[in-house]
Parts: sequence; C-alpha cells; structure tokens
Amino acid sequence: MNLSHIEHLGIAVKSLEESIPYYEEVLGLKCYSIEEVPSQKVKTAFFKIGQTKIELLEPTAEDSPIAKFIEKKGEGVHHVAFATDNLPEALAKAEAKGVQLIDKAPRPGAEGLEIAFLHPKSTKGVLTELCFDPNN
Ligand code: CO
Repeated sequence: MNLSHIEHLGIAVKSLEESIPYYEEVLGLKCYSIEEVPSQKVKTAFFKIGQTKIELLEPTAEDSPIAKFIEKKGEGVHHVAFATDNLPEALAKAEAKGVQLIDKAPRPGAEGLEIAFLHPKSTKGVLTELCFDPNN
C-alpha cells in the first residue's frame, strides 16, 4: 500500500474546551477548525504541525465510541491516520493480507476526507485509519 505521511493523530479527550489550551498555550499550535461529526457522535478540534494534523475528539453522547474508549482506557491517543493516494486499493491490499477491516469501503470523514478504519486486533493494537483527500 502506498502511504505518504501521517495525516493525523486522533486523540480522545473528555472536553475540547479543557484540552485546547494545552495545545495552544503550551505546544504553541493553533486550533484552526472545530467540527461536529454527528455520525460518529464526536466534536473535533484540528491543529496542524507540518503535513500532519492533531485531531482532538470529544464525545457528544454516552454511547459515542470515544466515550467508550475514554471509559476503558482514559484520555489519550485513539488512532493513527495514514494518507494514501488510493484508498480502495489500500483496503483491498490490507484485506488480502488478512487484516480485519472495520470499513470495507471508504466513507466520509471530517474535513472532506474519505476514510476507512482497520481493526486494532489486526494492527498490533493501534486503531488505524486510512485517508484519501479527494481535493489533493
Ligand atoms: Co481520524
């Protein structure tokens, strides 16, 4: 599979409001976008560092996957997202190598990206997202 860079790191937080000051005031990054993704029951805040983004994820409902993650593991790194120039092909290659796919086909993600997740059982414990930017 042809990956170019880490598109973003997804980080689960209880509260964007309480977390954004760390990224802005300590790390000196700038939050450039806050977006709610109702299908995932999350509110996201984005920062950019080089080609890579930090995506903070705050749950908006008790049954949000992020709420469940925080309950189980606490706040912290939730997923790693790699950029690919051909998402359907990357998924097919992963599946052919025996990787369990959470998404068999690309679906819309935040920031206009097409995304798909690989199951952490197949990726040495790291929830892995593959992203394709149709505007790139
Ligand atoms: Co993500």
